Order: sequence, then C-alpha cells, then structure tokens
Amino acid sequence: MGYNKGKLGFIMGSNAFNISGLDTLTGKAVDTDCGEAHVRVSDDIVLLSRHGERGNIPPHMINHRANILAFQMLGVKQILSFTSVGSLNLELEPMHILMPDDYINLGRIWTYFDVKIKHIVPGLDLGFREQIYKRIKSLPIKLKFNGIYIQTRGPRLETKAEIQMFKNFGDVVGMTMASEATLAAELGLSYANISIVDNYCNGLTERPLTIQTMKGNQEKNSENVEQIVKNLIPVEK
Ligand code: HPA
Repeated sequence: MGYNKGKLGFIMGSNAFNISGLDTLTGKAVDTDCGEAHVRVSDDIVLLSRHGERGNIPPHMINHRANILAFQMLGVKQILSFTSVGSLNLELEPMHILMPDDYINLGRIWTYFDVKIKHIVPGLDLGFREQIYKRIKSLPIKLKFNGIYIQTRGPRLETKAEIQMFKNFGDVVGMTMASEATLAAELGLSYANISIVDNYCNGLTERPLTIQTMKGNQEKNSENVEQIVKNLIPVEK
C-alpha cells in the first residue's frame, strides 16, 4: 500500500462496531500517560472504537488524549478516522460521505501541552487524505472530497438557530474529529477523516430531525464504512 507507512490506524465511530472479517484482531489495553486506551491490532492495522468497545462512551467524555497517544506508542504514523455527522449542505445528503479538508472547533480544544508553552499550526494531512481518496473513489458510494467539518461539544445536537449560523461556515457538524486531528498534529501524526452523513442538521430542511432517523441511518451507513475499510486493508489472510 503506497500510503501505508507502517501500521495504519483506524478510529471507528458510531457507524461501525462489527466489521466482518476483523475478528482476527487482538484486543489490547494500552496504558498511556493520559490514561488507558483500548485498541484491536493485527500485523497491518491498529483499530480503536472511540465510543468504547461496547459503544457506551459519550462524545464529550472520550479520552482523546489517551486514544491518540496509544497510536503513537504502537508505532502508527497515519490515522484515518470515521465520524458520524449531520449535514449543513443540501447537496450532501444523508448516506453521502465527505472527506473534509479543514475544520472549526467550537468544542473543547484538547492538548498535550498543559504544562509547557508549545504551539502548533493545526490541520488535516491533505496528502494522506488524497491517497485514501484515490483508493476509495471508485466504490459505489457518493463521496465529496472538499468541505469543512464543524465540531460542537455535544452530547446534545444543535439548535436550529445554531445550524442557521453554522451553515454559512461549514458542510458538516460532528462532535469528535477536530479534537483528534489537533492532538494527532501535536504528536506529528498524519490524520485524515471520513465523515459519514447520517442526517440533515436540525432545521436545515422542513422535515423535523429525530434521533430515531439519525440512529437508523447510522446503522445503514455501517455498510459503507465496512466497504471502505475492506478496500483499504487486507481483512482475510
Ligand atoms: N450534529 C452533530 N453531530 C452529529 C449529527 C448532528 O446533526 N449527526 C450525527 N452526528
């Protein structure tokens, strides 16, 4: 794999807990300076479910610092994350996918630099993102290459007034990606993201947003996530 410098890291979100063919991965608890992180590893990949193996960690309670540090400790240099998002853009419909090229963080800004003064210039790894895009663009999935991810703190969704404001500045809203991307940049790791649209954001269309719609689409979207992951790694040996 041209893009693969060592093991590839995957961070899975609300769309995928059971990808078939990955049962051969070995579960591992990694004890980091920032707390424990749980991952599953093989010769080729390190995979972390940010909401926990049982999917019970809410977005604002995720220990992002332990998670990203664990990848570095395991020798991963490139992380591809999957996130469930709402769309601010009518052309980016539920079940479509965005590979964002930048982000805005309105939530908590996590850092490793609490006790020394160190600044970084944040951003996604656009070269790594392009390499991933080339590998998956022929899949039968509606994929948009450029766009802005706006992060809120969660766990609540956004008010209609917030969405009216956000839609002038971004394409999707989620609760986790910007935190991970910033921490990865602080550690010098490459980070790119696949944002899976589960719903139009609150008030963007006349149809009222329900949690049921969002959850239902999250489940349906798991198939797309599975297709992408299988296209990027050899799952059967
Ligand atoms: N807002 C924020 N996060 C989300 C949404 C949303 O509408 N849908 C899925 N994750």
